[in-house]
Amino acid sequence: MRTKNLPPYAPTLIESTRAIGYSLETAVADIIDNSIAANAKDVIINFFPIDDAYITILDNGKGMTEEEIDVAMQYGSKNPIEERSEKDLGRFGLGLKTASLSQCRCLTVISKQGRYIVGRQWDIDHVSEVGDWSLNVLEEEDIWCIPQIDKLVKNESGTLVVWQKLDRLKAGEFNFELSLGRNIDHVRDHLSLVYHRYLAGESGITKLKISINGENIKGIDPFLSEKSVQVMDDETLVIHGNKILVRPYVLPHISNLSSGEIKLLGGKDGLRKQQGFYIYRNKRLLVWGTWFRMMRKGDLSKLARIRVDIPNTLDHLWTLDIKKSSASPPAEVKKNLEVIINQIAERSKRTWTFRGKKEVSDTETHVWNRMKNKQGGFYYEVNREHPLVQQIIKAYPDIEVSLNALLQQIEMGLPLNQLYVDLNNDEQIINDNEQSDGEIVKSLQEMITMCADKQEKCNLLDAIACIDPYSSHLDIVEKLKEEILKND
Ligand SMILES: Nc1ncnc2c1ncn2[C@@H]1O[C@H](COP(=O)(O)OP(=O)(O)O)[C@@H](O)[C@H]1O
Ligand SMILES: [Mg+2]
Repeated sequence: MRTKNLPPYAPTLIESTRAIGYSLETAVADIIDNSIAANAKDVIINFFPIDDAYITILDNGKGMTEEEIDVAMQYGSKNPIEERSEKDLGRFGLGLKTASLSQCRCLTVISKQGRYIVGRQWDIDHVSEVGDWSLNVLEEEDIWCIPQIDKLVKNESGTLVVWQKLDRLKAGEFNFELSLGRNIDHVRDHLSLVYHRYLAGESGITKLKISINGENIKGIDPFLSEKSVQVMDDETLVIHGNKILVRPYVLPHISNLSSGEIKLLGGKDGLRKQQGFYIYRNKRLLVWGTWFRMMRKGDLSKLARIRVDIPNTLDHLWTLDIKKSSASPPAEVKKNLEVIINQIAERSKRTWTFRGKKEVSDTETHVWNRMKNKQGGFYYEVNREHPLVQQIIKAYPDIEVSLNALLQQIEMGLPLNQLYVDLNNDEQIINDNEQSDGEIVKSLQEMITMCADKQEKCNLLDAIACIDPYSSHLDIVEKLKEEILKND
C-alpha cells in the first residue's frame, strides 16, 4: 500500500469552519479566553462601526514570539488531547481562527514582547485567490496601519486581535451602526456573566478588567451570593482523581429582590429560564440555566441554581464543543448531581411558597384555606374561623349574611390566570411584600376598633398574634396591649 499526502483545500476549509455557529458574543469570549490563558489583566475591546468598520481586542498578556504566532495562526495549532496548563481556557487549537473568521473575512494578530513586535494575518479573499494556506506576514510599515496599534505598543507585552471586513455582521443589516450597538449590548451582557468570577477577582485567580469602547464591564453574579442562601454544604465529587466542586444556591424570594436584581438575575429570559446548573470550566462560566434533562424547569424550582466547578482536565468527559458553549456531564457525574438536584429543588419550592405555606399549613390560623376537592382539584376559601371574621360577626351580627356574600365573591373572583402570568414574568406582587412596623401597628389598631371593651381588644390581639405576619412581630402586639390596658 502507498500513502499520499492529502491536505485540505484551504479556501473550502476556512469557509466551512466559519459556520461552526459562533455568535458575536461567544466569538469575542473565545478570544478573551486566550488573553486569560496568556495572563492578561486588562482586555480592551473596541467596536468601530463606520467606514472600514473593525473590532479590536487588545490584551496585556505575555504576547507571542515569531515562532509562537505562526503556531497560533495555524489551524489545529495544539492537539486537543494534549494536556493543558491548569488555567488554560483553550482546547482545540482553533478558537483564535474559527471564532474570528466566523465574524469577519480578515483576521490580523499583532503581538508584542518587549522590543519585538510581530504581525500575521488571515485574509480569506487572499486565501481564495491563491487557493492555498497563504498567511500574510506583516512588515513593520503594515503593522503601523493596523487600528489600535498605538495602544498595543504602550504595553510591555500583549496581543492585539483585529477583525476587519465584517461581512457576517453586516449581512442583512439595514443600519449597521444601529445593529452593531445592539450587538455590543449582547456582548457586554455575555461577558459580564461568563467572566464574573474573573471580573470580581475571586481569590485564586488574577483579577481581570474588561472594557468595551472605554467603558468598564461589571460582573454579574448569577447567585447573588451576598443575599442568597447556600442551602447545603459544598459537595466534592471525585472523578478520575479530579475534583468537581458543587455548590447549591437558592435565590431569595422574589419579594426580597429589587426589580433591578430580578432583571439582572433573570436576563431577558426571566428567572424561570435561568434556573439550573451553572457549569464553570476553570472559573469561566460555560453552560448555564439547564438541568441537563434531569429535572423539568418548573416554577417552583425557579430560585434554584447550582454552581459546578470543573477543571479542564476533565474536558474529554464533558464532551465540550468547539465554541465552548455546550457541554454535557458524564454519566457518573450525572448520577451524583441528581441527588443534589432533588434536595435543592425541594428547598427552592419552600422558599417560593414560604408565605403561601404559612397561609395554608395546618398548625396555624390563616386567612386563606387551601382545600382539597373530592374530584381531585383544589379550591381556596377565606377562613370563616379567622378571629377577625368571628369578631366582625360578633360586633355586627346583622351583617353576617352580607359578609358571607362578600367573602364568596372574593373567593370566586381570585384572578388566578393573571396571578399565574405575573408570577411567570417575575413581576413583583406588592401584596406579597413585607409590611413595615408602622403598617402592622396601623392594621392592628384598625382591627380592634370594633371591639366593645379592653378585654375584647386584648382577646382579639391574642388571637391575631398567632397568625402570620403578626406572629413574627409579637413585640408590637404586646406593646399595643400594654397601651390598651394602661389607658383609662
Ligand atoms: N492573546 C494571546 N496571547 C498569547 N498567546 C495567544 C493569544 N491568543 C492565542 N495565543 C496562542 O495561540 C494558540 C492558539 O489559540 P487558539 O486558536 O484559540 O486555540 P487554543 O486556545 O485552543 O489553544 C494558543 O494556544 C496560544 O498559545
Ligand atoms: Mg483559544
